[in-house]
Amino acid sequence: MTSYPELKNKIILITGANSGIGLAQATAFLQQGALVTGLDQNVDQMQLLGEKFPDFTYAQVDLTNLDELILALNSIEKLDILVNTAGILDDYQSIEQTSFEQWTKVLNTNVSTMFNVTKLVLAKINSDGVIINTASIAGMVAGGGGIAYTASKHAVIGFTKQLALDLAERGIRVNGIAPGCIDTPMNAKDFENGGLIASQVAKEVPIKRWAGADEVATVTLFLASAGASYLQGTIIPVDGGWLIK
Ligand code: NAI
Repeated sequence: MTSYPELKNKIILITGANSGIGLAQATAFLQQGALVTGLDQNVDQMQLLGEKFPDFTYAQVDLTNLDELILALNSIEKLDILVNTAGILDDYQSIEQTSFEQWTKVLNTNVSTMFNVTKLVLAKINSDGVIINTASIAGMVAGGGGIAYTASKHAVIGFTKQLALDLAERGIRVNGIAPGCIDTPMNAKDFENGGLIASQVAKEVPIKRWAGADEVATVTLFLASAGASYLQGTIIPVDGGWLIK
């Protein structure tokens, strides 16, 4: 893995750090010597990560519960890098199949928690800080999710661009990542029953395979690094070519 000495001792907050992409991002930053805090509603994997890396701290929090979130963020005094990654899928449900309750849950989890976390820690982010939001190819085109997921990820990209514009003069860099088909617990269903759906999906990807979560983490490290100093409001697809079709 590429080494980024400038990330050593950086104070980093990552949501959704107990699984998949968030877990890989937390691991990658810890390997660079950063001081990482993870937030997630589940803690089993974060607990294991903490046993391996003493510089990792974590809290169990339902990000959609504002009181819990405020409590969890209280202990953070300052921050160099915020990585908003927690999110949920909508099982590719159409508008007819989506109840208002399900719509609200997906929008709350994927968009409103990103707004709340960012708003609550903004004053603590250093003047040369970095914010990285996890969007999706579903934030750029239709078909990467159902009605609620696609709407939520388009909102994440809009949020990221406006935040980047608003914070640019303060020196805070804001960018996003749009993953494609990443093999994480979120997509576990596709790999069931011999993985027929997973192999059909892989055939739709120009490079003909799923990615590992570590392949999103490496791009996250780059976005946090000094090498990305002129990137502002950019959404980087990590999609094996999905969006060029
Ligand atoms: P995952 O399901 O493996 O991990 C998501 C994590 O977010 C879980 O640990 C979960 O507990 C946490 N989380 C969800 N709702 C929460 C809540 N209310 N409070 C606290 N924690 C909560 O999923 P994965 O694949 O790692 O996804 C991470 C992000 O990447 C998501 O925003 C997802 O939409 C996005 N993404 C994933 C893709 C994929 O193919 N896996 C493709 C495009 C985007």
